[in-house]
Amino acid sequence: MKILAIGDIIGSPGRRAVREVLPDLKHQYRVDFVIANGENVAGGLGLTLNTAEELFGAEVDVITSGNHIWAQKEIIPYLDSEMPILRPLIFPPGVPGRGYLVFKKRMVVVNLIGRTFIDNFDCPFRAMDKLLAELEAKPAVIIIDFHAEATSEKMALGRYLDGRVSAVLGTHTHVGTIDSQLLPKNTAYVTDIGMTGPVNSVIGDDTDAVLSRFLSMIPHRLAVGKGKVSFNAILVMVDEETGLATGIERIYREVG
Ligand SMILES: [Fe+2]
Ligand SMILES: [Fe+2]
Repeated sequence: MKILAIGDIIGSPGRRAVREVLPDLKHQYRVDFVIANGENVAGGLGLTLNTAEELFGAEVDVITSGNHIWAQKEIIPYLDSEMPILRPLIFPPGVPGRGYLVFKKRMVVVNLIGRTFIDNFDCPFRAMDKLLAELEAKPAVIIIDFHAEATSEKMALGRYLDGRVSAVLGTHTHVGTIDSQLLPKNTAYVTDIGMTGPVNSVIGDDTDAVLSRFLSMIPHRLAVGKGKVSFNAILVMVDEETGLATGIERIYREVG
């Protein structure tokens, strides 16, 4: 089984790159399932109904998210709908949405969030122990979008879950890392997939606006950058019987 995971998609440039790149890529690599992190698709912050539908229209199968999931209030009612949108798993009981979904009884996609330099969430390591113990008739294929800041926390979680899940794929920093690998017990791992968004920017935002914020220390709303767009994704090959990964490949494209 081939699963493609797209990193944080930034605003309209990111959505355009997905529309332009994904159909050919799916065909070329014979991709079975597409995961996309959509926490930045609506003007750089959160996602809306329209932007979510645009991604599903571009053949994305599930949208994961992260710390910006609450930024656009209109999406909140849809987090419990039939639309396959995930928010991070670790939120207090009663909070809208869900942190994982099972697809066709053969695969589960989990959206996890870190706590180092992010927020005071519950322990993601123990949250995964609990989930793996609870999943009834557990599907063999388990893919985790680990939305976290610290490289150490991401790598530690990858090693903690090595051999127990199919893949731990990092998102949130918007900067792709060169360490995509199969861990010793055949879990596919990458510290960060990287963003799908404007290349000439600061992690997706307009460079001048970001510089002005750093230089003045005055907070203001940032605009999404312009110009050519990166498409960062990770392709994972998984043995459906064992749930273990057999390969991992970084995919990079640019659109004008
Ligand atoms: Fe992000
Ligand atoms: Fe994030």
